[in-house]
Parts: sequence; structure tokens; C-alpha cells
Amino acid sequence: MPALLNADDYRRGARRVLPRGLFEYIDRGTEDELALQRLRSSLDAVTLTPSVLTGHRERALAIRLFDRDLAAPLVIAPTALAGIVAHDGETKLARAAEAVGIPFCVSTQSITTIETIRAGAPDAMLWFQLYVWHDRALTDRLLDRVAAAGCDCLVLTADTAVAPNREYNRRNGFSVPFEPSVRAVVDGLLHPRWLAGVFGRTWWNGGVPTYGHYPDTYRSSVTRPAMADAVRLDGSIDWNDLARLRDRWTGRLIVKGILSVEDALKVAAIGADGIVVSAHGGRNLDCLPSPADCLPAIAQACAGRIAVLADSGVRRGTDVLKYLALGAEAVQVGRLPLWGLAAGGEAGAVAILRLLLREMDTAMGLLGLREPRELTGRAGGQTPAGHGPRP
Ligand SMILES: Cc1cc2nc3c(=O)[nH]c(=O)nc-3n(C[C@H](O)[C@H](O)[C@H](O)COP(=O)(O)O)c2cc1C
Repeated sequence: MPALLNADDYRRGARRVLPRGLFEYIDRGTEDELALQRLRSSLDAVTLTPSVLTGHRERALAIRLFDRDLAAPLVIAPTALAGIVAHDGETKLARAAEAVGIPFCVSTQSITTIETIRAGAPDAMLWFQLYVWHDRALTDRLLDRVAAAGCDCLVLTADTAVAPNREYNRRNGFSVPFEPSVRAVVDGLLHPRWLAGVFGRTWWNGGVPTYGHYPDTYRSSVTRPAMADAVRLDGSIDWNDLARLRDRWTGRLIVKGILSVEDALKVAAIGADGIVVSAHGGRNLDCLPSPADCLPAIAQACAGRIAVLADSGVRRGTDVLKYLALGAEAVQVGRLPLWGLAAGGEAGAVAILRLLLREMDTAMGLLGLREPRELTGRAGGQTPAGHGPRP
């Protein structure tokens, strides 16, 4: 196996292992993939100005976030279906996060349940990402399970009021729960390592892979249609629902998918603890502005009020440092750990996170910095959208 020296090497490894339908589900954006290009090019355009002769022999990436010590300003972002990228993939991601001392945010749409993940990673820092279901009583029961499993933070995803338009999934015959089609079956047969090691194993242990947190009646193709409406994403959620969630959830509450100062301030006024400035990895709405462009104004408006995190498009350690320099306290990574997981299981997920940490450390050394907070004020460059020079 060739040496895996950067995230793109892991991506190529993931492409070899995974069926095309699943690889593209992870990798691609939405519609014409303009949001994906935009968030990458805006990150590429950011520069960081070094200080020379600072004499730091070592760097310290550790931060404190929500009263917890993190080994680095990183969080594994919630990603649906990690459990079909590798068998029990969510538990493997939780352990990988623990190995490098950062939190892992479990998705509502994970294959593995929060209880199973907790049993497999008893000491991991687990967060939980919430999609509010149409049936609010079911959503409340899910929240009780999440609290009982000892999740520190609840992350409400606010940018997915309806299911996004991803044409490639339909072309590839990719769906969850899995619907047999000639294309999907051939795709699986062409990837025997995945077919036996992930699909076959999951099927052997409990049937066709599907969302672990959905009610049992959703698993059977007979009762699923009756259940489908109850677990539909509830597009009617509004600020009153966030206020109610704030009253109900006693832990930390973060809202993910914020791209305007106005919305960020509303989140702060409701008493939530943080936001994630995010374009959902370019997967939802193709005309979104890039988080790198929106972040400085949002971070400035929220300073001292709520924690500001960011995500979308991180492929290098320098991308993390750029988000930090633009005002984020911590940065989420979505696709990277999935590529590691696909290419090398739990060890692959650990390896790609360590690679990212090494890249961050090297760049910090070259910038002459010791701690992440020293990145403040170092971002420059010109946005491709022509928004003018950064501060
Ligand atoms: C395969 C995949 C599944 C995702 N599923 C979810 C999800 O269930 N809930 C959510 O809030 N975000 C989801 N996201 C978005 C991520 O949380 C995150 O915003 C995004 O991946 C960050 O961009 P990056 O992948 O370029 O790091 C998903 C992203 C990917 C790639």
C-alpha cells in the first residue's frame, strides 16, 4: 500500500474501497457543486502572516471549550451513515476522536445507536447532532436517550429544513434504507472488501443497514411507509422551538449552519452556548456564501457571548488554522475522518487525524506561534468573490 501522506491520499484510498454510490454520497456537494468550489477557493485565498525569530521550541494546540480540555481545537463533525463506511463506523470514530483527545459529534442519522457507541467508547467526549423529526414526542424520547448516554453537547442542525437535491445519489441508485437496484447491486459486487466487511457483517447482525435511532418499525419495509412521516425532518422548526429546546436540554446547546450575523445574535439571545458557521460541507444549498467569508463578522459580533465554531472544506492543517485566524474557537472536520475510516478502519481514522494535527503543528511552527489564540489577526488575502482585502 503506498504511503498516505495527505488527506487526498486517504480520499483516493476511500474511493478504491467504497462502492461508487457511497463514495459520492460522502465526497460530493449538491446540484452544480458551486458551494463546494466556493468554500474551497475562499479558504485557499486566505493567507496567514508569520512572526519570525519567536524562539518557540514547541507548540501547544490544546484548548478549553465548554469546560472541557481538548488536545486541539478540533471536533469530528456529525456525518450520517459513518456506520456503513466501516462496520460500526461511528464507534470507531468515537474511539479515534478519543485517541487524539477531541470530541466526536454523533449524527441523528448514524447507523450505530448512541448507546452502542457509548458502550464501545466509554470515555469518549460525545456530542450529539439533532435533526428534529416531525413527530416531536419521538424526538423528545431521542433526547432522553442522548442525555442518558452522557453526551456533553447537543448540536441542533438548522440548515436542513428540507432534504437537499443530490442528483448523483439518484443516478447511483444510492439510498438509505438500501433499496435494491441493478446499479446498486453491481456497485456492491465490484467492491467485495466493503460488501463482505461492512454490508455483509451489518446484514448478518441485524438486517439491511439503516438509521440506528429511527424506531424499529422504520426498519421493516412493510411498516416503514407508515413510519416515514413521523421521522421526516420537520421543516417547520423556528426560533420558538430553539427556545423550547434551550429550556429542555440542560447541557451545552450549539446551533449548526449559521452564516449571518443576525442569526448568530438570535442564537445568543436565546441562551444557546455556541454556533457552527457552516455551509454543511457544500452539500445542501449551492448558492451559499462560504463560511470563511462570513466568519470574521460573525465572530466579532459574538465575541464574549457564545462560542463560535466553523466547518466546511478542511483538507489541510492550514485550513484549520485559517478558520481559527478568522475567528473560530474550534473547527469541525467531516469528510476527512470518513476517508480515513474507509481507507483504514479505526486506525485509518486515527492516522488521518494525527496527520492533520502534524500539519497544524508544522504550520504553527513556521508561523512562529505557540498557541492557537496567537492566530488572531493574522488572516489576510483577497476573497475570490472580490469582497476586498481581509482585515
Ligand atoms: C457524508 C456526510 C454526512 C453528513 N451528515 C450530516 C448530518 O447527519 N448532520 C449534520 O448536521 N451534518 C452532516 N454533514 C455535514 C457535516 O457535519 C459538516 O458540516 C461538513 O461535513 C463539513 O465539511 P467537510 O466535510 O468539508 O469537513 C455530513 C457531511 C458528510 C460529508
